Amino acid sequence: MAGSGDAMAGGPKVREFPAGFIWGTATSAYQVEGAWTEGGKGRSIWDYFSHTAGKVHAGSNADMACDQYHRIDEDVRLMANMGVKYYRLSIAWTRIQPTGTGPANLEGVAYYNRVINALIAAEIEPVVTLYHWDLPLALQVERNGWLGGEYVIDAYVEYARLCFHHFGDRVRRWITFNEPWCVTVLGFCTGEHAPGRTGQPWTEPYLAGHNLLLAHAKAVKLYRDEYKSWQKGLIGITCNSDWREPLPDANPSRYMRNCEAAERTRQFFLAWFTDPVYFGDYPELMKVRLGDRLPTFTPAERALMKGSSDFFGLNHYMTTYVADAAPGAAVGFTRPEGRADWVVVANGKEREPEVEVTSPKGGEAPQWGVKSLWNWVQGAKSNEEVKAADSPAKAAMQDANAVGWFADQGSQWSNDPNWAMTDMGWAIVPWGLRKMVGWIQKRYHPEGGILITENGCACKDTDVAVARCDKMRVEYLHGYISELHKAITEDGVDCRGYFVWSLMDNFEWAHGYSKRFGIHWVNYDTLERVPKESSKWFAKLIATNSVPP
Ligand code: NOJ
Repeated sequence: MAGSGDAMAGGPKVREFPAGFIWGTATSAYQVEGAWTEGGKGRSIWDYFSHTAGKVHAGSNADMACDQYHRIDEDVRLMANMGVKYYRLSIAWTRIQPTGTGPANLEGVAYYNRVINALIAAEIEPVVTLYHWDLPLALQVERNGWLGGEYVIDAYVEYARLCFHHFGDRVRRWITFNEPWCVTVLGFCTGEHAPGRTGQPWTEPYLAGHNLLLAHAKAVKLYRDEYKSWQKGLIGITCNSDWREPLPDANPSRYMRNCEAAERTRQFFLAWFTDPVYFGDYPELMKVRLGDRLPTFTPAERALMKGSSDFFGLNHYMTTYVADAAPGAAVGFTRPEGRADWVVVANGKEREPEVEVTSPKGGEAPQWGVKSLWNWVQGAKSNEEVKAADSPAKAAMQDANAVGWFADQGSQWSNDPNWAMTDMGWAIVPWGLRKMVGWIQKRYHPEGGILITENGCACKDTDVAVARCDKMRVEYLHGYISELHKAITEDGVDCRGYFVWSLMDNFEWAHGYSKRFGIHWVNYDTLERVPKESSKWFAKLIATNSVPP
């Protein structure tokens, strides 16, 4: 029985996962493919964004990335050597429809046919994401992208149709969208991601999210109406969420408020998207807090939304503590002890609030925004380091983090100083995953179970020698997968799969190539792939379907 196997009588427990548990690796098109102008591919918003000065660390772009476009056979071999049976990849919309509408570009179709066939020949099942952030640029420029209402929704559904039509005979698992929270909040509030909009952070994230949700539900309906009966696949959405733990407080009423704040920010983070998908509408507390800034679904749209996922896709990486910050009051990030160094004051009720950065301890007002403070808290960096890393120009953009969604959710986030950090400055808290999936199970009882479609960590794999023994990543995976095992075997969570992010180091969005998430190291000069210790550890996990003691 799962979870009961002993390595040796009386010895430490080897913990087995349920039979048929899915173990996979993951990447996305823009982050690994490269070949940005080949095969008739059109430009995406990320091509444009990464070619815009100041948007990506060190001015990097993914024109070449890992060159998977020319090395797919090698990458399939890497996985086959590990015994990987599932690979989560994404299709670049711009390879299928270079400008986002119109007939399929047959070269693009041929490329993904080659990828899918190579995977299947190696007995690896492709799990395909239709949208991993690379919107065709023409849709952004001419039609206002995800703010473009019916036009972008219909365009997406037609793109999905082309994918079902061309690949659905072999693809059995579809993911409509990857991480709507990042698409909306990073794309339309902080502007850290394409299309980099910051001007209307109080409304645009919610509007973009609304259109994205409708596009998701319409594509699912299309699949179920016209393809599912003969293609026999599953279709769902993948959302990301950190775990939000109430900040402990000896004062019971303050602690109670922290508990409420934690629940509120979980709902703003995840239920914003998953309540419509499972219940047909936005969470009540979002409706109350946002008023007419949150678009509404018609009764027909609610019916369309409800039940529009065959599984619960979750990307999860980290945990933070949460303390209450009522709207109109302080939001932002505090030191671990709860002692605020700087507080961002935003009037969350106004459309165009005044945002003011103050130092409650007195002294000069800081010249940088809450985002850098966040990096600092997350990365446990010194104030000096933050100052040195920052510039006033960047600060202006970063102040966007004090408004819109961040102010709306009304809480302050912090870390425990004892938590270790990844190279992203994300706190390593394995029990956060257990609580996260427990929360999902309780709220949604997702019929098709939960799939962890991403989990992993960036380490300072500075050179190949260091990368080869990525002990920290092995520890991270061991910790998170052990907690997932507990959730399944002790808490009754119905989780059916886990995909490690990522098969290989790749283009980490605004961080460029400075952050390495791979279980294979990539030499960006020669494009050589080198297995890290974690790939061997993960291979063993797959082979035994068990996490070691
Ligand atoms: C989320 C995204 O889906 C993926 O593209 C990204 O690289 C990882 N998480 C790590 O940040």
